[in-house]
Amino acid sequence: MNACQQCQLCPLHSTRTQTVFGTGHKHAELMIIGEAPGFYEDQQGEPFVGRAGKLLNAMLHSIGFSRRDVYIANILKCRPPNNRDPLPQEVSACTSYLEQQIALVQPKVLCALGRIAGHYLLQTTEPLNRLRHKKHVYGADNRRLFITYHPAYLLRNPLAKAEAYRDLLQLKECL
Ligand code: URA
Repeated sequence: MNACQQCQLCPLHSTRTQTVFGTGHKHAELMIIGEAPGFYEDQQGEPFVGRAGKLLNAMLHSIGFSRRDVYIANILKCRPPNNRDPLPQEVSACTSYLEQQIALVQPKVLCALGRIAGHYLLQTTEPLNRLRHKKHVYGADNRRLFITYHPAYLLRNPLAKAEAYRDLLQLKECL
């Protein structure tokens, strides 16, 4: 975490207010992986504290978890200006932090929220909708990996919430 706070591996260090490392249970069974901090996360230093975060809390609650039961991290630890998509060079500079988080927490199940997290973890560019319907494992330890919609997408497309809930029920079955 200290190394991350000082990190200057990509140009985002010059526009961040602070790094947003991760939060939650140190040995959570479930790790949630989002994309990158937004405005409020950059201000507060914690992932998913804005509107998308409120929806994420409700999604977790719907399957019997609170934020404190899980570990929440992002692909990028610094906010991209104007919340633009992470650039490939930012992803490759930053993801060693995520790999270390996974190695330390040792979650049983990973849940990627949205395209950016899903594409990084699976090293693919397949459309999210196709990835949601497949079974995935991640890394040498063959951790189960689920992919569902990003809560920010669900805020814009509330009709997809029912599908996201079905994804989460499948995930819950695995735990
Ligand atoms: N969106 C993300 O992907 N991560 C956050 O921390 C906040 C919004």
